[in-house]
Amino acid sequence: MESVQAIKQRFGIIGNDPRLNRAIEKATQVAPTDISVLVTGESGVGKESIPKIIHQLSHRKHGKYIAVNCGAIPEGTIDSELFGHEKGAFTGATSTRSGYFEVADGGTIFLDEVGELPLTTQVRLLRVLENGEFIKVGSSKVQKTNVRIVAATNVNMFEAIKKEKFREDLYYRLSTVEINLPALRERKNDIHLLFRKFASDFAIKYKMPTVKLTDDAVALLLKYRWNGNIRQLRNVAEQVSVLEHNRTINALTLQHYLPNTGSNLPVVVNNSKSESDFSSEREILYKVLFDMKSDLNDLKKLTMELMKKGNVSEIQKDHEHLIQKIYGDKENDFEGTDNAENVELLAIPEHSEVSEITLEAEDKYHFAEEIQEEETLSLQDKELELIKKSLERHNGKRKLAAAELGISERTLYRKIKQYDL
Ligand SMILES: Nc1ncnc2c1ncn2[C@@H]1O[C@H](COP(=O)(O)OP(=O)(O)O)[C@@H](O)[C@H]1O
Ligand SMILES: [Mg+2]
Repeated sequence: MESVQAIKQRFGIIGNDPRLNRAIEKATQVAPTDISVLVTGESGVGKESIPKIIHQLSHRKHGKYIAVNCGAIPEGTIDSELFGHEKGAFTGATSTRSGYFEVADGGTIFLDEVGELPLTTQVRLLRVLENGEFIKVGSSKVQKTNVRIVAATNVNMFEAIKKEKFREDLYYRLSTVEINLPALRERKNDIHLLFRKFASDFAIKYKMPTVKLTDDAVALLLKYRWNGNIRQLRNVAEQVSVLEHNRTINALTLQHYLPNTGSNLPVVVNNSKSESDFSSEREILYKVLFDMKSDLNDLKKLTMELMKKGNVSEIQKDHEHLIQKIYGDKENDFEGTDNAENVELLAIPEHSEVSEITLEAEDKYHFAEEIQEEETLSLQDKELELIKKSLERHNGKRKLAAAELGISERTLYRKIKQYDL
């Protein structure tokens, strides 16, 4: 059996916490069986790698792996997405369509945020788990499928059962084996390691020197609550890497990137998470664009001079400062020995075995072609979210929202109709 260390390398998992190791070990132990697994843990703890490990180490690895975010599919279409539909089953069903359970026959389905499934879908799912049977929406024909199910949740399932939002019988079916991933605040020894790994990744991505933390900044990282866990840590590492000019980061600077620091009040759960996510993403993009524009202007200036004068060494002398600004100086170059060492130390080797899923430290699903639809769906969700937020911000004034979104009022009107806002 592959060692836990080897699996971590293969799947890009960083950390040495004993509970993380135990979770990976459990995943490798159940992988060869068809047992249903429920992955639990707060949002952002890394639940998505567990079903990938299970699929890749199982006899189903040549079959399909389909990841479905149950929370992102509208209630009205989820049955059809999962189980397919017959032609004419509902308005717009112009042809028969196979659902994920049919397509993934012989493979694995990952049901993320399974706690969000509507009760009617839960009944259908229970049937698949019990005897591999399902019925397309609008059909009466029973079909068979052989699918291994791995589910994940960040909600307390017992509470959901108590509130009658989740069927108890389904919960027990799904969680034959439960794999729990610890919150980041409980993995103190991994926090700085993860930050260094992300900082070195972003240094490569944005072609900038790697940021380094002072001791007091490291202490702050360890003390912080990390409600968004590794996803939040990665976000912070990205923002700091892009926005901070001085590449040595102290606690005072770092504090600006950590909501709710600097006070002894209990940490408030951040309800406007998606909004702040969008604004910080936008900030990063603006910064990158501004920097690119400024570099471009400098390059234009240099090219113009070259065309006019044609004398390279003279121009080099006259514009030393400009050249340094665009190309950077040797000492700070991110390929400098110090950082290169850091990068190599933390780099995860490429692996060729994973054919169906490309594993990156990206925060999104990667799956086989037939899942494209799901990706479109999540893009639509993003758009919908952006429109909603913008309308909220402008108290429903379409003109202002359209201007902010960079679209015409007419397009916005069309989208509002489309999404039934
Ligand atoms: N141990 C880890 N090492 C490196 N990156 C990780 C680790 N755990 C999580 N991540 C990254 O953190 C982000 C959130 O992980 P994800 O699996 O989507 O969390 P969850 O599904 O639990 O909300 C992803 O970008 C993922 O690649
Ligand atoms: Mg997730």
